[in-house]
Amino acid sequence: GRKFFVGGNWKLNGNKKSIDGIIEFMNAGPLNADTEVVVGPPSCYLEYVRSKLKGNIGVAAQNCFKVPSGAFTGDISPAMIKDIGLRYVILGHSERRNVFGETDELIGEKIEHAVSEGLIVIACIGEKLEEREAGKTEEVVFSQTKTIIKHTKDWSKVVIAYEPIWAIGTGKTATPEQAQSVHASLRKFISENASKEIADNVRILYGGSVSAANCKELGQKPDIDGFLVGGASLKPDFVKIVNARA
Ligand code: 13P
Repeated sequence: GRKFFVGGNWKLNGNKKSIDGIIEFMNAGPLNADTEVVVGPPSCYLEYVRSKLKGNIGVAAQNCFKVPSGAFTGDISPAMIKDIGLRYVILGHSERRNVFGETDELIGEKIEHAVSEGLIVIACIGEKLEEREAGKTEEVVFSQTKTIIKHTKDWSKVVIAYEPIWAIGTGKTATPEQAQSVHASLRKFISENASKEIADNVRILYGGSVSAANCKELGQKPDIDGFLVGGASLKPDFVKIVNARA
């Protein structure tokens, strides 16, 4: 079975005071032991969060570059993430793609390098509203997934996060049926383009306005293996989302 996975992507939010509050409710939980739980603070707080958070909660970087070190001002590497005791990184988030102009190919190279360094990668994909309205959802997410497949040598280190861009930060969640439909199509695509074993084992998370109110229904869908949560991961409601299947 695929272990339920819930990640909190803090994005560019928080300060030591607010982070102390998050650490307090995360450490208090209680968190379902059957769920893999990860939080993703801004890079300058990674080590602080790691030092304060209970060991059963993972800490993820929100991004990293495709080489270990060098003249790449402003960036961090998988080697550094490992060096401070972390095992996870989020790559290819729609904000990295659309605000910072990261291409599919760059994201593929980053995934390949991070996995080769032994990190677990949360690889994000998802369509824009106009793409969905034009009936291009599958075309878009299949193309993004194809690049991920091309660059993935060890699928035990990759978790996919399907985050329709129109649902991110909008309060407009995909319905459980809409999300399940894309997740099932993605699993079929991965089965046909990687292998059935990989498709059966890879976790596919849903992200986009996940809340305490909608997480249970979404989490019951057979191909939804967890969530990547933005706004609600900054609030005590995140504990309820972690426990969606409890
Ligand atoms: P929201 O949960 O705030 O919609 O953000 C989703 C997201 O982008 C997580 O990576």
